[in-house]
Amino acid sequence: MSARILITAGPTREKIDPVRFISNYSTGRFGYEIAKEAKRRGYAVTLVSGPTALAKPKGVKFIRIESARDMMKALSKEFPGCGCLIMAAAVSDWRVKDAAKRKIKRGPGKKGLELIENPDILKALARRKGRRVVVGYALETEGLARNALKKLKAKNLDIIIANKLAAGSRIFGDNPANILIMDRLGNRVEVRRRSKEALAKIILDKVSSFNID
Ligand code: CTP
Repeated sequence: MSARILITAGPTREKIDPVRFISNYSTGRFGYEIAKEAKRRGYAVTLVSGPTALAKPKGVKFIRIESARDMMKALSKEFPGCGCLIMAAAVSDWRVKDAAKRKIKRGPGKKGLELIENPDILKALARRKGRRVVVGYALETEGLARNALKKLKAKNLDIIIANKLAAGSRIFGDNPANILIMDRLGNRVEVRRRSKEALAKIILDKVSSFNID
């Protein structure tokens, strides 16, 4: 039986009230391309996805979630059965402390939101990874290699895919991207201006170079 790769994609949404949320610009494109490529290579694939406008890839186990806490729950269930986790989702670091049960009405005066920290899902799972291969992402506006390497170590990862967000750049969605791939053995590869489909292939080559059971 082929090994199972668990992939996360897209943003999370954190409710403010029943009609509003905080989120980010992630489109899910990267994670979905990786899921499709992993499927093409014969892996069993589970895709845990936040809200996106993308079509569900064929032949994968697909789990739709909304918030970071939903994602944590789904992954706690799926992680034991996988040989590799690729955490491409843009998980919201915070959630609203007390989301309102009813729509917040317009009114005069200042409004504030109290935010509390979400769990670091990747860190929590990688702590108990055993023989699994765990891959994280790092989105940085500065100190790309330094900060990504810090995350690789702090989160006990095997591979980190670092992405630099330059002022005015459009890395979200269907745009070519530059990435820096680093692993726990100290290897580094820089890949420039490739489509996300091409990057998915490069990432899976890298992942497959570690043994996935
Ligand atoms: N991640 C996660 N849980 C969170 C936040 C992030 O599992 N609450 C994962 C992301 O999916 C990604 C990696 O951690 O694979 C790094 O995410 P990133 O936002 O770059 O880093 P943070 O750890 O949130 O650090 P910072 O925002 O301070 O750069």
